Amino acid sequence: MSKDTLTITDNRTGRTYEIPIEHDTIQAMALRQIKVNEDDFGMMSYDPAFKNTASTKSTITYIDGDKGILRYRGYPIEQLAEKSNYLETAYLILYGELPTKEQYDEWEYVILHHTFVHENITQLMKGFRHDAHPMGMFIATLAAMSTYYPEGREISDPDKRIKQIHRLIAKLPTVAAFSYRHNRGLPYVYPDNDLSYTGNFLSMLDKMSEAKYKPDPVLERALDVLFILHADHEQNCGTATMRVIGSSHTDPYTAMAGAAAALYGPLHGGANEAVLRMLMEIGDVKNVPDFVKAVKNRERLLMGFGHRVYKNYDPRARIIKQVADEVFEVTGKNPLLAIALELERIALEDDFFVERNLYPNVDFYSGIIYQAMRFPIAMFPVLFAIPRTIGWLSQWVEMLEDSEQKIARPRQIYLGEGERDFVPMDKR
Ligand code: CMC
Repeated sequence: MSKDTLTITDNRTGRTYEIPIEHDTIQAMALRQIKVNEDDFGMMSYDPAFKNTASTKSTITYIDGDKGILRYRGYPIEQLAEKSNYLETAYLILYGELPTKEQYDEWEYVILHHTFVHENITQLMKGFRHDAHPMGMFIATLAAMSTYYPEGREISDPDKRIKQIHRLIAKLPTVAAFSYRHNRGLPYVYPDNDLSYTGNFLSMLDKMSEAKYKPDPVLERALDVLFILHADHEQNCGTATMRVIGSSHTDPYTAMAGAAAALYGPLHGGANEAVLRMLMEIGDVKNVPDFVKAVKNRERLLMGFGHRVYKNYDPRARIIKQVADEVFEVTGKNPLLAIALELERIALEDDFFVERNLYPNVDFYSGIIYQAMRFPIAMFPVLFAIPRTIGWLSQWVEMLEDSEQKIARPRQIYLGEGERDFVPMDKR
C-alpha cells in the first residue's frame, strides 16, 4: 500500500525514521529528530541559494519552469497580457480575484488619486547628484518614504496596511519619473490624474511645455503589458528579500527598499540594463559568433539568458517579442534587435546552451523595447521595479497573514576555528 511518507535510515546509527510528505515536500524540521546521540543538535538540510527549499506556501503565482507556464492566481499570463490591464492585474494579484466593475472603478480611482508625493520628497530627490543612477534614487527615496508615513509600521492593522499599499502603487511611478527627469536635468512633471496609470507615467517622463500630454496609445498599451508581465514572479531574489525583511515586522517602505535593492543586481532585474550594454558592446551581427565563443569559454555571461526556474522558454519573453513588433511600428526598429535575434538563433542551436536549458528570459527583449521608447538604459531596472511593487506587497501581506511564518533566520554549518585563547598583539 502506498503511503505519503518518506522512510530514512541513518546508517550511522541504524535507526529508521518515517517522515510525512505533504505537497511532495518534507518539513526540514522533521530532520531534526535524526541524531547520533542525545547531545547531537539534529540533522539539517544544506541548500545554498535555496535551490530546492520552499520557504512558504503561496496562492499567488504559479510557475512550471519545465513547461514554461506562468499564472497569476490561476490566470495564464498570456490571457492577462491580452485581455487585462496592469491595475486590474494588480487587483487580482493582491485580492486573489478579478475585480467587478464597481471594485475596479474604486481601486483605479484610489490609485490614480494618490499619485502626488509630499513636496519634501521632491526636495529630497533634488538633492541627489545631477547624474545619479535613477535606481539608486528610487531605492533611497522608497526607504525615505517610511519617514513620511510612520503609521506604515502598524503592520497588523489591515486598514493601515492597505493604505500603504495604495500609496506605494500610486506614488512609485512619480518617484521613478522624478528620478528620470533628475538624471536628464529636466524639471519634474507632476502627475496628471486624468490619464491612465501608464499614461500618467509617460506624461511625467515626457511632458514638456504642452498644456495636456497625450500618450501614444500603442506605447501606453505596450508599457501596460510589460507592467503585467513583471507584476509578480513568486519567490525570486527580490520577493524573497521582501519577505525576509518583512518577517522582522518592519514597515513596507523599508522592506520594499530592500526588495528593490535586490532587484537592482545584474543577475536579477538589472539584467535588462546589462543586456543592452552587452548588445551595444557586440555592436554588429558579425561579432556575435566571437561573443558566443567567449560565453562558451566562460569569459562572459550571455545576459538575458537562463533562469533558475524556467528550463524552457520564459513565457514572458515570448509575449515581449510580440509587443516589440507593435512598438517598433511606432518608434522604428531598434538596430540592436538584429544582434539580439542572431544571438538567440545561435544560442538556441548550440549544444552549450541546449544542454544547460538556457533560453531567453524576460530581460532579453524588454530592454530593446525600452530603448526604442527612448528610455535611458539606467531606467530599465526602475521600469522593472514599478510593476513588481504589487507582487512584493501581495507576497508581504500573504507572509504576514500566514500563521506558519516567523522571523526568517537560516541556519549555518560552522566550519571555522574551534575555541582558542586571545593572543596579545605583540605575540602574533
Ligand atoms: N550565460 C552563460 N552561461 C550560463 C548563463 C548565461 N546567461 N546562465 C547560466 N549559465 C550556465 C552556468 O554557467 C551553468 O553552467 P555549468 O553547469 O556548466 O557550470 C549552467 O548554465 C547552470 O547555470 P546556474 O548558474 O547554475 O543557474 P542559476 O539558476 O544559478 O542562475 C541566472 C540563473 C538567471 C542567475 C543565470 O542564468 C544568469 O546569470 N543569467 C544571466 C543574467 C540574467 O539574465 N538574469 C535575469 C534572470 S530573469 C529576470 C529576473 O530574475 O529578474
